[in-house]
Amino acid sequence: MTQENSSETTPEAETGGGDLFNTAAGWVLFAAGLGLGLSILSGKYFHGDSPERPEQLGYVIEGAVEEGGPAAEMTMAAALNMPEMSASAGEKVYAKCLACHTIEQGGANGVGPNLYGIMGSPIAAKPGFDYSSALAGKGGVWDWETMSEWLKSPRAFAEGTKMSFAGLSKIEDRAAVALYMNEAGSNIPVPEYVEAVAEDAEVEETGSDAGQVAEAEAEQNEGEEIAAAAAE
Ligand code: HEC
Repeated sequence: MTQENSSETTPEAETGGGDLFNTAAGWVLFAAGLGLGLSILSGKYFHGDSPERPEQLGYVIEGAVEEGGPAAEMTMAAALNMPEMSASAGEKVYAKCLACHTIEQGGANGVGPNLYGIMGSPIAAKPGFDYSSALAGKGGVWDWETMSEWLKSPRAFAEGTKMSFAGLSKIEDRAAVALYMNEAGSNIPVPEYVEAVAEDAEVEETGSDAGQVAEAEAEQNEGEEIAAAAAE
């Protein structure tokens, strides 16, 4: 037994070597298996390679992007062209101005200047009225935009103004009262309001030459013929 083991050339020894190799291979396999098992396990518990993003983050940054917040205010041109917009609606708004202003032709200046013909006329230019330097130094004319800005907040428009009036926060009110004032001796043109799509169409139309117009017309006629044929 001892004799056999000490011999290096016996077939048994070779077999022993083989066993050793097998054992080593076994350990390697075992280690690999263990490693694989561990990685599967860890994959189960720690989602390292596919992190799941929580639906709701831990905190919300207030006011960063607020959906469903107040829509942007419409433009003066849009407000002036609203279907329900009218000078008579403006007359109702003007009730807030009556305490300080007259609007008839030749009306007296009161706390504020007479407003006859004010739309389209220079800012702070009524004869016989003692304007604040804030408004007098403004320059320019009362067009729809400046009037809207002024009536929104007189103080923001001309800091130091004598017109102690908080302002009309709704652009619909500013448009209406401006329309009402416009009917009193001004009659400056009301801006047209064209939506973006309509604007594009207009550009196309004015940009086309006679040939293109003729072509378009021919196409239209053709279309009508087809429509007529289909109707028969
Ligand atoms: C409390 C009094 C008061 C009220 C109310 C008031 N205003 Fe005035 N308004 C004034 C005074 C004062 C001025 C002159 C401001 C200055 O010189 O700084 C003025 C100036 C104006 C001007 C400029 C006139 C110009 O000659 O350039 C316009 C336009 C005007 N007011 C429109 C209105 C309208 C429209 C309202 C109502 C929505 C209104 N005001 C309400 C006192 C008033």
